[in-house]
Amino acid sequence: MLHTFAFFFFLFTLKQKISPVAADFLFNAFHTAELILNGAAAVQSTGILRLTNNTNQEFSHAFYPTPFSFLNTSSGEPSSFSTSFVFVIIPRYIEISSEGLAFVISPTPTLADTLPSQFLGLFNLTSDGQATNHIVAVELDTVQNKEFDDVNDNHVGIDLNGLTSVVAAPAAYANGSSSFQNLSLFSGQPMRVWAEYDAKKMEFNVTLAPLNTPKPALPLLSSIINLSSVFLSEMYVGFSSSTGTTAGSHYILGWSFCLNCRERELVPSDLPSLLPLSQTKKRNRTIAYWLPVAVVVFLIIILSVPFLVFRRRRQLAESAEDWEMEYGPKRFSYGDLHRATRGFSDENFLGSGGFGEVYRGVLAKSKQAIAVKRISHDSKQGMKEFIAEISSIGRLRHRNLVQLIGYTRRRGKLMLVYDFMPNGSLDNYLFNRVDQSLTWKQRFHIIKGIAAGLLYLHEGWEQVVLHRDIKASNVLLDAGFNGKLGDFGLARLHDRGSMAETTRVFGTLGYLAPEISRTGKSTTSSDVFAFGAFLLEVACGKKPVEFKTSGVDLVLVDWVLELMERGELIEARDRRLGNEFVVEEMEIVLRLGLLCSSPVAEVRPSMRQVVQCLEGQVSVPALTEEHLFMFHSGSIKKRLVGDVSLSGSGGRALAAMGSSGQDQCAGLPLSFGR
Ligand SMILES: *[C@@H]1O[C@H](CO)[C@@H](O)[C@H](O)[C@H]1NC(C)=O
Ligand SMILES: *[C@@H]1O[C@H](CO)[C@@H](O)[C@H](O)[C@H]1NC(C)=O
Ligand SMILES: *[C@@H]1O[C@H](CO)[C@@H](O)[C@H](O)[C@H]1NC(C)=O
Ligand SMILES: *[C@@H]1O[C@H](CO)[C@@H](O)[C@H](O)[C@H]1NC(C)=O
Repeated sequence: MLHTFAFFFFLFTLKQKISPVAADFLFNAFHTAELILNGAAAVQSTGILRLTNNTNQEFSHAFYPTPFSFLNTSSGEPSSFSTSFVFVIIPRYIEISSEGLAFVISPTPTLADTLPSQFLGLFNLTSDGQATNHIVAVELDTVQNKEFDDVNDNHVGIDLNGLTSVVAAPAAYANGSSSFQNLSLFSGQPMRVWAEYDAKKMEFNVTLAPLNTPKPALPLLSSIINLSSVFLSEMYVGFSSSTGTTAGSHYILGWSFCLNCRERELVPSDLPSLLPLSQTKKRNRTIAYWLPVAVVVFLIIILSVPFLVFRRRRQLAESAEDWEMEYGPKRFSYGDLHRATRGFSDENFLGSGGFGEVYRGVLAKSKQAIAVKRISHDSKQGMKEFIAEISSIGRLRHRNLVQLIGYTRRRGKLMLVYDFMPNGSLDNYLFNRVDQSLTWKQRFHIIKGIAAGLLYLHEGWEQVVLHRDIKASNVLLDAGFNGKLGDFGLARLHDRGSMAETTRVFGTLGYLAPEISRTGKSTTSSDVFAFGAFLLEVACGKKPVEFKTSGVDLVLVDWVLELMERGELIEARDRRLGNEFVVEEMEIVLRLGLLCSSPVAEVRPSMRQVVQCLEGQVSVPALTEEHLFMFHSGSIKKRLVGDVSLSGSGGRALAAMGSSGQDQCAGLPLSFGR
């Protein structure tokens, strides 16, 4: 008896081992699917699951409502799964991509607190890469983000807990036993993806193909991945999608999924088509309903013809490009921004920045607070290149950069829409406000933030982005007094000739590296020079150059240098700080400020080295005798006064410094500027 029981028990456990519980679903259209949707996701009347709806900077999620057991809690073994789905990405502007979408396995069906754009609605700045996320994703990404080591701007990748893919490849499918054919993810054509995980072999395969091509024998991605620490006993499956600065739409036409079995085949002919279903039928049904409306509209049109003709003339004078007309309105209409800023009224005027006037506003629909920058703009520039440029600026995303969220163009004016920074610009707190100064803790936090933001511009992006106008008034403060760098990327737009205001010289006196006046060329090193002036400004609470009616009154670098030579460096600090500051940090900032302000570009550290010094990872290299000598001969005051001639010994000092300056900084672990 006991034997028989034991035998059955054995059979039972064996069976459990061989075939764990299987569960599956298949949607050839989503009419009946009761998905958990959020953000812009919606099931259309055609049965298509629309993830994003041609708006920029948005994201959406769609999850199957019941969770699956991806981990056997008693044995700790992960489950196998297989899924396939058909997607279409339609960018708003042909050839300008708009982020992407991902198949996701997640502990929650909501993915709260995530970001759009390159974060694909999956993560935010702090959660990206954390093992606590328990997220497995197959990303279809149409933008290259260097910070996530993306292989190109059209790739497929497997992500575990973060956006830096475990394995990725340019989008392609095998059309034979070994050769791959490239595919564009945002061609507007339907494509099918198969993602399969074999828990026994720990093999994760992803295969891609155009909809009407049978499943290729060779997967695009195949990797051995142990998912047992990522999987949980209850997880949801679904999709996440996002758009960036440029809008686009992401659709899912059909989806099949199975846990611990092979998914059922999607039937291409059963899938809904993206083209509207039989329009004639619809027209018949709705004509009775719309007829009275049409009559009223007709009357309105008749009555407003003279007005419209007048407006049309004016609009044509504005000359919207053919290309622009073809693809319809942009994210923000002029009307939206006009309303948001109450007609660019005086009480909403925030100030004149380097590139134009800035207005505060609140978007009517979302109640989002924004800052609108109005810039003169040469409307002759090709719209396509212009949008490409704007969208590349918009893709720069860092917690210490003021985020660009949109734009519009009208009659020679370009309007850029940014996140509103409630605490205004830093210079106000340093120079203008007697009542409220910033504590040292706040100042040091802002300095480190801006250094990180500038390092991102210099090294974190496909191309080096020069800021060219770093100064306290370009540093904005959010509600938590985090420093954010504004106006980045605009110098580049200016260079491409899309801004009309061409007479402007970049940079501001006192922040302008001396070599710029010789070569006219900005470099990362000239940005570092301006950053040095900024460091001194924040530590000392003084402007780089203070003028009196009689001429130059104070050149900050010279003054700090003098104090240092007298061994009283710390006396340079802002008196308003009293004794509330950390001596070591103050010294780091002042010494670094001087080093970055060196008149010789080669002596200045790179932003990476600056960040390392500020983080205390390496100490600030000391200024040598030669450095000091060079400072005195190249002093800003002398240059302003016109005495730039180097004495004989000064010339020798310069020659000596070239090499010793290099040696000094070669001690730092990373090589010089890029
Ligand atoms: C797109 O979705 C957003 C968020 O749900 C919504 O506010 C907006 O009106 C939608 N736009 C269109 C054109 O459907
Ligand atoms: C980032 O996401 C995590 C959850 O994944 C959340 O706890 C955190 O508050 C989010 N951070 C921000 C800044 O939204
Ligand atoms: C396919 O794309 C890859 C990566 O973008 C590129 O290197 C390769 O030249 C392309 N091949 C063809 C045949 O276009
Ligand atoms: C997979 O990872 C888990 C925990 O991370 C570990 O216990 C297990 O042994 C691994 N499996 C294999 C086959 O390496």
